[in-house]
Amino acid sequence: MDSEESVRQDGTRPVLQPGHMIVYVDTGGTVCPKKSSKIIFERFTALIRERHLSDRIRVIERGCFGLCKIAPNAYIEPDEIWYSQFHLEDVDEIVEKHLIGGEPVLHLIEYPKRRVPRKKRGA
Ligand code: FES
Repeated sequence: MDSEESVRQDGTRPVLQPGHMIVYVDTGGTVCPKKSSKIIFERFTALIRERHLSDRIRVIERGCFGLCKIAPNAYIEPDEIWYSQFHLEDVDEIVEKHLIGGEPVLHLIEYPKRRVPRKKRGA
């Protein structure tokens, strides 16, 4: 299991080689663990290992993303995709379609849907 910090001490993120990915799963916050994030992390890790993808896909535990209201949360780099409010049963689909197939699982993505600018209050 990889429990490496997601950000280095100098504030930079790990440099990814082409074709490599990192799956960050919040297992250290206060809300995500109550939403099965530890089991979700273990499922990601097991599938990556079973599919012999550990040389190019890493699964890393981390703390709170600040998105507790939409827990559990996982973040995929370098694609900048957030999976939120998903279930253990969804992990297989994320691995097969996104991590292996290269196609994000649209119905499970929280961001970037929420990146759509919202109207300012009073506007
Ligand atoms: S506890 Fe997971 S985002 Fe806050």
